[in-house]
Amino acid sequence: MIRAFEKPIYVTKPFLPPLEEFCQGLSEIWESRWLTNNGPVLKRFTRELCHFFDTENLCLFNNGTLALQIALQGMRLSGEVITTPFTFVATTHALYWNQIRPVFVDITPDCYTLDPDKVEAAITPWTSAILAVHVYGHPCNLKALADIAARHHLKLIYDAAHAFGVKVGDKSIAHYGDLSMFSFHATKLYHSLEGGLLVFDEAALKGVFDFLKNFGFKNELEVVMPGTNAKMNEMQSLMGSLMLKYLERLIRRRAAITALYRQFLGQLSGIRLVPPLPSDIKYNYAYMPIEVSEQEFGMSRDSLYEQLKEYNVHARRYFYPLVCDYACYRNVSVTDPLTVARRVADRILTLPIYEDLQDSEVERICEIVAHLHRN
Ligand SMILES: Cc1ncc(COP(=O)(O)O)c(C=O)c1O
Repeated sequence: MIRAFEKPIYVTKPFLPPLEEFCQGLSEIWESRWLTNNGPVLKRFTRELCHFFDTENLCLFNNGTLALQIALQGMRLSGEVITTPFTFVATTHALYWNQIRPVFVDITPDCYTLDPDKVEAAITPWTSAILAVHVYGHPCNLKALADIAARHHLKLIYDAAHAFGVKVGDKSIAHYGDLSMFSFHATKLYHSLEGGLLVFDEAALKGVFDFLKNFGFKNELEVVMPGTNAKMNEMQSLMGSLMLKYLERLIRRRAAITALYRQFLGQLSGIRLVPPLPSDIKYNYAYMPIEVSEQEFGMSRDSLYEQLKEYNVHARRYFYPLVCDYACYRNVSVTDPLTVARRVADRILTLPIYEDLQDSEVERICEIVAHLHRN
């Protein structure tokens, strides 16, 4: 008989730097009385990120959703954008808020990212861009998407909400495509309480994004575009800045947890794990997805999800339902049968992964899964 956990084990638990470090930063903010509007901590954090990404072309926001909305607006995209339904709703909402029609196409069965073959087939005279998602931090098929975008003169935008810290070759994932958006939400591997970041190719966009996130103000008397309020404040900047020091440690710990899960679950029939990523990818281990095949496992994904809760293990069905199946997008016509995306959405379950999840807890979660499989 396997015991339930005494305390709930959630899918994630935010890492926090030592309280003294945050308090030290807070006292500087108290001293300056500068709380938002391009304050000194935001400026410092921006410089640190420029160094981290080795580019000046970046801009911070109060969350990833507004960052992406502003990206699409600043790049003046319109018409149709080809995108994935296997994502968090905010990817599609950003299109909707720009009056852009999402064209949903299927994903690949290995890493769940946009299928380049399906993208090419979905291009019409109204297509202005591809909006792909590095889902779970898995890099999309960068080369194939770049080739398609170049051939058809489309912008290539990456929702890299999950991909902070990922590298391909010796370059950050941010340097692929025209623009990447990172989310620094509290549930992410790396966070700034809430926050968002755009990293982009075209230097001129920086000025546009700076206007758009601050009501369009150029100076006290001039408003040059109808912007919104999407500024990152000083507390967020402080958290983001402190967290940068811990990023590598967080990734290393998640890699170890992932290895344990893979060791225990890899042999279990009916559980499919993502195949190891190519060796030139430095992954961030942001999530721990498994696919549950009801026939082989002996239990559906939904039953496993519910049964795990009985043991106080709170996995999540990221991403189910598909975005195109939410009521607000049901009237968007979808021509691709989305065969892979539908199968994956019905089978996917993301297991708990966070810095202080103990090895013994990972083992116990795996024992519970194996026990449910046997019975
Ligand atoms: C794929 C994806 N895109 C966009 C977002 C939105 O980011 P934020 O929560 O920072 O607004 C999230 C997560 O929250 C996400 O998972």
